[in-house]
Amino acid sequence: MTGESYIFIAGASRGVGREIAKCLIQQNQKVTALLRGEASRPELEAMGVKVVMGDALDSAAVEQAILTNEPIQAVISTIGGLPKDGQRADYLGNKHLIDAAVKAKVDKFILISSIGSGESAVALPPQAMETLRSVLIEKEQAEKYLMASGLNYIIIRPGGLKSEPATGNGFITENYKVAGTIHRADVADLTCKCLFSDPANNKIFSAIDRMQMYGDAEVEEFSL
Ligand SMILES: NC(=O)c1ccc[n+]([C@@H]2O[C@H](COP(=O)([O-])OP(=O)(O)OC[C@H]3O[C@@H](n4cnc5c(N)ncnc54)[C@H](OP(=O)(O)O)[C@@H]3O)[C@@H](O)[C@H]2O)c1
Repeated sequence: MTGESYIFIAGASRGVGREIAKCLIQQNQKVTALLRGEASRPELEAMGVKVVMGDALDSAAVEQAILTNEPIQAVISTIGGLPKDGQRADYLGNKHLIDAAVKAKVDKFILISSIGSGESAVALPPQAMETLRSVLIEKEQAEKYLMASGLNYIIIRPGGLKSEPATGNGFITENYKVAGTIHRADVADLTCKCLFSDPANNKIFSAIDRMQMYGDAEVEEFSL
């Protein structure tokens, strides 16, 4: 990654996406954020983020945002949360972002997914799986679509998220059986490190805080 072109973030209005924007700006990266509402625009622009408007569920808007602005070197998507009008963006929104990223020939796509998706379903107790089922089905669809896209990808599946300051104890592992919680700022820090790590390419990671793991199994951490 050269630092000459932009890192495009979908989901930067709040949560993990906002923390990633902060982290990249601190590292003097150029950041573009896709927003579907104006509320967070002033704060992001004050941070130095270039804002483009569009809903991830609108494929034409996503394509325009990614293909008609300055060159994009990587796309990071944290989109999720409760839908405003009944349609979740976890699969379709990410599919549109991936399609546009392929057309734009970006170097890398990082998808923030969730523990419980795909083979990591074994990490969650049955009751949690039941509650999250509809989201996790879409997360897994998005993961599979990204893996088949031909893009360099990194899939990060965080455990339960907390909005507290970074602890510095977050880690990623290829062990899909781990579960626990992690602070959003730590997920952001790990994501920014993954962005500039070639060994992390084309891998799926679980992300948790080593002091907030459920169980006491020995887990091999991936070094970034
Ligand atoms: N909550 C947890 O414990 C947990 C655990 C594991 C994984 N995750 C996943 O981790 C990721 C980050 O979670 P978070 O809680 O930090 O984020 P969040 O607060 O849920 O924020 C989601 C972001 O996605 C954006 N978004 C949603 N639909 C969109 C659309 N159609 N077009 C454009 N933007 C859209 C939201 O924008 P608006 O502000 O416009 O709504 C917001 O910026 C999510 O993918 C979440 O599913 C969450």
